[in-house]
This record gives sequence, C-alpha cells and structure tokens, in this order.
Amino acid sequence: MSVDIKKLISQLTLEEKAALCTGETAWTTVPVERLGIPSIWVSDGPHGLRKTPIMAAETSIPATCFPTASAQAATWDVDLVQTIGQALGDECIAQSVDVVLGPGNNMKRTPLCGRNFEYYSEDPFLGGEMAAALINGVQSKGVGTSLKHFATNNQEYQRMTISAEMDERTLREIYLAGFERAVKKGKPWTVMCSYNRLRGTHASQNRYLLTDILKNEWGYEGFIVSDWGAVHDRVAALQAGLDLEMPGPQKFRVQRVVTAVQKGELDLAVLDAAVERILKIVFKAAETPKGKVTLDVDGHHALARKIASEAIVLLKNEGGILPLKNIKRLAVIGKASKEPYFQGGGSSHINPTKVDIPFDELKKLAGSMELLYADGDTMQPGLNQPMIDEAVKVAAQADVALLYIALPPFKESEGIDRPDIDLTDHQVALIKAVSAKQPRCVVILNNGSAVAVGEWINGVAAVLEAWMMGQAGGGAIADVLFGKVNPSGHLSETFPIKLSDTPATINYPGENGKVNYGEGLFIGYRYYDAKAMGVQFPFGYGLSYTTFEFKNLRVSSEKFRDVDGLKVSVDVTNSGAVAGAAVVQLYVHDEKSELVRPVKELKGFAKVMLQPGETRTVNIALDERAFAYYHPRHHQWVTESGAFEILIGKSAGEIVLRHTVQMESTQQRTAMLDRDSTLLDWMNHPRGNEIIKPLIEQAMKNLPADTPIPDWAKDLPMEVVLMWFANQSLTKAPEEMIEDLLALTR
Ligand code: BGC
Repeated sequence: MSVDIKKLISQLTLEEKAALCTGETAWTTVPVERLGIPSIWVSDGPHGLRKTPIMAAETSIPATCFPTASAQAATWDVDLVQTIGQALGDECIAQSVDVVLGPGNNMKRTPLCGRNFEYYSEDPFLGGEMAAALINGVQSKGVGTSLKHFATNNQEYQRMTISAEMDERTLREIYLAGFERAVKKGKPWTVMCSYNRLRGTHASQNRYLLTDILKNEWGYEGFIVSDWGAVHDRVAALQAGLDLEMPGPQKFRVQRVVTAVQKGELDLAVLDAAVERILKIVFKAAETPKGKVTLDVDGHHALARKIASEAIVLLKNEGGILPLKNIKRLAVIGKASKEPYFQGGGSSHINPTKVDIPFDELKKLAGSMELLYADGDTMQPGLNQPMIDEAVKVAAQADVALLYIALPPFKESEGIDRPDIDLTDHQVALIKAVSAKQPRCVVILNNGSAVAVGEWINGVAAVLEAWMMGQAGGGAIADVLFGKVNPSGHLSETFPIKLSDTPATINYPGENGKVNYGEGLFIGYRYYDAKAMGVQFPFGYGLSYTTFEFKNLRVSSEKFRDVDGLKVSVDVTNSGAVAGAAVVQLYVHDEKSELVRPVKELKGFAKVMLQPGETRTVNIALDERAFAYYHPRHHQWVTESGAFEILIGKSAGEIVLRHTVQMESTQQRTAMLDRDSTLLDWMNHPRGNEIIKPLIEQAMKNLPADTPIPDWAKDLPMEVVLMWFANQSLTKAPEEMIEDLLALTR
C-alpha cells in the first residue's frame, strides 16, 4: 500500500496533528478515520509480550517469557538472539501488536541498577550487537521495536529526575555507542527516550540527544516516543525532537500544542515533521496483517529452553562434578526448584504460557536416581535456622546436593535499585551450612545481574549462573546439569569481589539531583583493567564440559588503512571429549594515543560449535570504528596512525593470543580551533597554519634561521603567543586579534 503521507498531512487539521503526537490510550496512537489513518498498538516486552488491555492490568495476555536481556547477552550468540526476535515478532502478529517496547540497551554502569536484568551488558559493543540482533529479528516479521531508554538511564534511583553528568567522550564511547550500533545496524522503527535528565535537561526535551545526535548525526528515520510519563513540557519536547508522547490521552497537552502553534511559539513545520515520522510507521505497521495466526506455544517454549540453556554460565566445576554422573541419591534444596524465579518485576513482567518446574524437569532426566527435597530457602529477609537444619540433614543423605538459590524480588526490580549485590543472609548461611556437611554441592543461581559469591564459593563444588532464565529455564538447568547441553554461556558483565570494588562506587547514586559519572570511560572491565584489580569472575568468563585451544592468530594485513579495516582469523579446536561451543572474544589495545584510552576494548566476537577434536577457523572483521575513539575537541570519531594489538581472549581476564598490527589513519582531521587552542593545535590545522604562518615568521625573524619552536611554546594558547611574541606587530589587542583569527578558520 503506498500512501502519500505529505498529502495526508496537508489534509489534517491543526487539532488532528497535535492529537496524533500523543497516544489515544496507554498503548495506542490516535486514528483519524475520515482520512483512513489507522492506529497502532504498542506493548511492553522485550523478553516476551505484555499486552494489557489497560495501563496497570495485573495480568496480561499469556505470552512466552524468554530469558531476560542479561541472559540473552550471556549466550554471545547474535543468531540465537535474532531467533528470539523472530518469535517475538510472531507473537506480536498473533496478539495484534504493532510495536514491541524494547530492547533495553542501557549500560550496566553499576551492578546496583535494579533494571540490569533488562539490559545486556557493561560493554557497548556487546550490548549494541545484541540489541541490533533482537531488533532485526522482530522487524524481519514486519513488526516494530522501540530501542530504549535513550539515554543515560543507568540507575532506577530517582530515575525520573536525576541528571546524569558526564563528559562528552564518556557519553559517546560508553553510553551512546551501544545505541548508535543498534540504531545503525537494526534501524528500529521507534526509539524510546528515557525519564532522566542528561546534563540538566530531561531526555524527552533534550534536543542534543534526540535531534542533533539521533536524528541528524546518526540519520535515524523512525519516530521517537517518550517513556511513559517522561514528558514535562510538550512543546519543548516537540521542539527537541520527541515525536510521540505516551501514554495518552492527554487533552491538556494536545491543547497546549495547538495554542503554541496558533501563537507562533511552535513552528508548524516542527509539528508536521513529527506527524510525518509517526504516520510513516503507522502505515508501515499496517502492511503486516495481524491477529490471523495462532501462537506456537510449544515451539516458542522449546526455543526459550534452548536460549536459557545457552545462557547458563558455568562459573565453577571442581573435580568435574558436572555433568552429574554415577549418583544414586540427589538432594534438591531450595524453594526456587519448585517455584522458579525466572523474570523480574515491572513493565517487562510477562504472564507466561506455561512454566517449567525445575524439580520436575530434573526428575524427567534423573532416571533411576532418587531425588530428595528440602525447601531450604525462605526468599524473605531474616534467618530461618530450622529450614537450614532440615536442608543440611537432607543433603547429608545424598551423593550430591543441588541448591537452587534465587535472588528475591526485594533485592532487584524495576523502579528501585538494589540495596547491595549479596544474596540474603539466610541464603548465605544455607549454602555455607549445606556445603560444610556436603561438599559435593552445586549452587544454581537465578538473578538478573552480578552477585557477590566470595563468602561461600570456596566451599561448594560447582556454580551455575542461570540468570532470570525465562519460563523454560527449569528444563534448561536440568539439561546442563545432566550434560544434555554443554554450557557455553559467558558473562556479559564482570562479577566483582565486592560492591566497593565497582567503578561507580564513590559517584553512585548521586546527590542534589545529579549523578556524576566520575569514572568516565572506565566502567566494567575497562575499570578493572586500568586499576589492575582482581575480580571474582571477569567479563566474558564461562567454563565448559570440554576444553578449547585457540591457535594461529593471523590478520589480513600487517599494515592497513583505517578505511580498509582488518580481517582477523583464529583456529579454534575442541580438545576435549564432548561437543561444545567456544566463544572467541577479540579485544583491541591501542599502544599509543593522544588521549587516554582503556587498556583494551571488545571489538568482535564469535561463537562456534565444535565436535571433539574438530578445528574450525573463526573470522572476525574489524572496521574503522574498531580502532577509533571519540575526540571531544574534534567533535568526531578519530583514528590515529600507529600500533594496535589484536588480543584474542577466552574472557577479558584471559588473553590467549596477541598480535601487533600497524594502522594508517586516512583522516583529514580539522579540529575546531577555539580560544584555548595551543600554537601546536593551530600548526596542525591546515587553515590555521596558513593564518598564523606570517605572524610566527614575524615573531622569529631576529632568530637564526632554522631555530626550532620549543615544545613549551607550542603548548601555549595562541592568544598568549600573540601577546608575548607578536605584540609589537599586532594591530589590535590580543583578545580581539584572536577572535579575528578564529573567524578566518570557520
Ligand atoms: C518503563 C518502560 C516501559 C513503559 C511502558 C516505563 O515505566 O520505563 O520501559 O516500556 O513504562 O510500560
């Protein structure tokens, strides 16, 4: 269907245009029947659909609850994440939903963010790749996504008001880079702005974020929707680039827009542009007929199980206790084995189509093994000694004890930050008591983000991180415990030893309405690398039931130009006895740069499945951006010629291969000169150099020929150079002269 949107806009009244830019209900846009403009339905997600007929409905229509984002990222498998997107797209079609409100791609600046379970990673490259994969999957079905929460929404504490304060480079390289990748690779139909402020201005009214960067610099063509209730001044929001306000209806806001246009406070062209973006998506959505298919409940449940099993990270496996073998009696301890904890609280909460009970799933695979059970855990604050005593008794009667430990909802949820990164006191006491009596003890964790394990991990034999694993997670855990699936998940965030080690510690949660991102670029492994600080489990970490060897790191060229990029190859061999999937992580280290850079940064990865003894070559392509950093002075991503080390790791803490290459920058960098620019900055600036040349020659005319300009002089601001060395020949005061010279460079 081809619709002439410009023509439609010319037929809309001012009132209709204003109304179109605000929702009709909590989940729909405004239709205009007389012109055949339909409305679209948006629903929460994004690890499943939460279609609720009204805003605060307790129970949404049943949908498949897939593992949450932190689990998805732990698969390090973009193809798999894309299949989640495809399944979600199908569920949207079955439930007549046009746009799913996700993925969430905020960076895990601190493990305390209550919504970390909904986010992918502490690394923008990994997060960006995951978000793009999910978006591409959903949108391949003709259904839209809403990449959220744009941007710098990295804590729940005061999320609607807090102002994130950070320097430009940190913003670009850490907090926007993942969004940029997802926007450019995934082209989401919509982007959702966040609640918080950035440098004092609410994201919903932040022109720099919404228009200058997202729409103009990144060429984003979809529409921008507000987070639910994020708009404070509707006119200012429109002027900043916010197209659709949600939820609706908001009759006062609509009237305010009408009045603003009538009074000449708001340019009609701005309103028209927002309407155009919204209508483009409305009609795009209409191209995919909805509601005529039935949900593939079993197929999607099986997919949820596969993803959950690939997301599980084997953190410890002493003496190869896993997979379970030669066991007669197995003790199963923990409420979470009977009442699984598989998703988080808040807007992403799904009403699952069905739920695997971990205990029952164990039973299905246990064969003749006898299963014993003790509740063990209370999931409430406070210690319950009788429950612990009972669990110890049961564990002592078995060959191995499994402890299902789920972080209770009061410890992590949307809307609140986590009080700490610890399990409850009861859970710690339970693990310690059980493992003291039964050292053949396996802990299975369910949580959405890093937890501290130091108090008890030495006493247990094995640990599985099973995340918020989705509705089929119970089966996935059984698959891994019994070796039906060889674990291949790797951490998408560092597990620190203790909370006070984490990068944002002294700057979190902020005060007086501001949170200072004082650690700058150094979040996650970038921080621990820079401080050479030990962690419990590094970013990228994960064990397997087999072993892998990485060999023969080679590059397409020892010397290459930034624009040509580089192809890196490495051979991976499964050197163990069972099939398994390896994750190859490629980090780049810049040996020398004008500005400080993290020790290394993830720039590529690949997951490869290998039979025992099999070797495969993994190829990873690096583009110009893999070597670039954002230069705040130049207002652009820059590459600097020189040596770069290509690092291949099994995790950020285990680099196994390295190779140095030489990159040649082809950039013609023209820094914007300003009052602070030094003599050297002027000399490096093609036009600036021309302008100052006569002045410098004049200043040096009495010195012997070829006298070099000393380094300390090159470091002086040009204004001072004028004042000290060219004073006699100046026709104006240096402060006026410098303005004239600057004008010549623009
Ligand atoms: C959340 C969004 C969600 C929206 C609609 C907000 O409170 O921050 O992630 O999509 O509500 O439920």
